Amino acid sequence: MASQLALRPSRRIATLITSSRTLRAFSSSTKCLQQSQTTGQDGRTTHFGFETVPEAEKEARVGKVFSSVASSYDTMNDLMSLGIHRLWKDHFVRSLNPGTRSSTSGNSWNILDIAGGTGDIAFRMLDHATNINGDLHSKVLVSDINPDMLAEGQKRSLQTPYANTGRLDFKVGNAEKLDFVESNSIDLYTVAFGIRNFTDKDAAIREAFRVLKPGGVFAVLEFSHVNSSLFNAFYKRWNFGAIPLIGQVVAGDRDSYQYLVESIEKFPTQEEFSSMIQRTGFVVPGKGYENLTGGIASIHKGIKPA
Ligand SMILES: C[S@@+](CC[C@H](N)C(=O)[O-])C[C@H]1O[C@@H](n2cnc3c(N)ncnc32)[C@H](O)[C@@H]1O
Repeated sequence: MASQLALRPSRRIATLITSSRTLRAFSSSTKCLQQSQTTGQDGRTTHFGFETVPEAEKEARVGKVFSSVASSYDTMNDLMSLGIHRLWKDHFVRSLNPGTRSSTSGNSWNILDIAGGTGDIAFRMLDHATNINGDLHSKVLVSDINPDMLAEGQKRSLQTPYANTGRLDFKVGNAEKLDFVESNSIDLYTVAFGIRNFTDKDAAIREAFRVLKPGGVFAVLEFSHVNSSLFNAFYKRWNFGAIPLIGQVVAGDRDSYQYLVESIEKFPTQEEFSSMIQRTGFVVPGKGYENLTGGIASIHKGIKPA
């Protein structure tokens, strides 16, 4: 089970990154954030990592981050998570079991992978449907707001068996306004490590609700909040110490990776995010989420009532 996976970077790396300077920077950023929120701002604002920015600016700034990281994104994912993101993604896809016979789809699923980036989820979905369920008809539309990320995904798709089969398609689009997707047309909507970057998460969840068929599934894999304080202290040191440094050394871009770790801190807790999903009208199974690796990531699901 991915939820039982332990994160064990070597002690040497841990020592390198446990500088008190990093922790001081983290705590002072948090204080600044609290101050800017309590003093108030003119107009509508949102978070860009620890910064408070006008809502109208966030999309462009997130766009810059992902255009900058697109070519090194897959390598960086492996380095930053020590490869564990692959296990989380495998578990996420297995838990959704695409291509099995379902009440909404027969056994040919119409899947929408939002913020699909370089295609990790889409390729796994089709692999699972084909190899586990013997389904040769389910298809995935990969959508992302960033053409550079999507171009990487399209390039990678040429190395898969799904190129030119009609089972995989790519479309640039904003999750908050899916006007290229018909209402009640999708069996499964997935978003992995994308939603924390959206400006208006509620609008995106409402769009997910609109495009899903009754009985269709909304599924989110996202960084979340660690529930053990000891593990959390170690994890924060890794995030704020190592990740921007790896970003600087490997991708020549410290700032984008600083944003990525700050955006994790600003994402709602598991319970808050589950409430957002339920407020939109989804029914959540069980307690509404599953923690992975002690809550570093979590899976949320919602079902659109029939
Ligand atoms: C961390 S990447 C995740 C990529 C992929 N899903 C994965 O798991 O590897 C986040 C993606 O979210 C996309 N994104 C950010 N805001 C978006 C929006 N409003 N609508 C659609 N995609 C968005 C970014 O362009 C980026 O490709």
